[in-house]
Amino acid sequence: MTRSPLVFCPGLLNDGALWRHQIESLADVAAPSVADLTVADTVEELARSVLDQAPSEFALAALSMGGYVAFEILRQAPGRVRRLALFDTRARLDPPESRQRRLDMIDIARRGGFSKLPPQMLAGLLHPDHVADPRMVETVLGMAGRIGAEAFIRQQTAILGRPDSLPTLPGLRLPTLVAGGRQDGITPPDILAEIADGIPGAKLVIIEEAGHLAPIEQPQAVSALLRCWLQF
Ligand code: MLT
Repeated sequence: MTRSPLVFCPGLLNDGALWRHQIESLADVAAPSVADLTVADTVEELARSVLDQAPSEFALAALSMGGYVAFEILRQAPGRVRRLALFDTRARLDPPESRQRRLDMIDIARRGGFSKLPPQMLAGLLHPDHVADPRMVETVLGMAGRIGAEAFIRQQTAILGRPDSLPTLPGLRLPTLVAGGRQDGITPPDILAEIADGIPGAKLVIIEEAGHLAPIEQPQAVSALLRCWLQF
């Protein structure tokens, strides 16, 4: 059986550990790779680098910052993406207070305070029940530690400079799944609905008992969704 090339784009301070369950459980139907979104400080360059490494045509699954890069990939090379799955992300730009929070975090990281940021971010990333789950916490902090301060600054700079992707949505013509956690406070269900409403024919799924990191908070549900999506 042919396996579909599948590129995963992780979020801010995430690496392949975000998608571990999906990579393993979809091995019979997908040939996965995980993009490195630490290598540049603009979404345009990050998208170019993903496209340079990716197969000629591929399915694209992305979470949060990965979604910002996914929209740019679709602007640069719409013909190469066969289907799109967007988790816990936003198309519109940040409100002013979020921009200021990012600038403050960049400043803290530049002054050598990066290591205190990921523990402070946990409560926003995970469902309240999962903040007390040592394995999930270890996964999130482990990824952040591997990404590190310099790449964090590049990622936040890319996020701050990204274009508004709302105008991109109506022109997308590919099978699209939009999904995210019911308790995601960073990109809540109404922000996901805005994306699904904007992309012709997109399907919206809200995942129960999950915050912003649905692939590790509800791994079986996300893997099952992706299995269906690879076939629709
Ligand atoms: C992410 O998970 O990638 C971040 O929450 C994105 C962001 O800060 O906008």
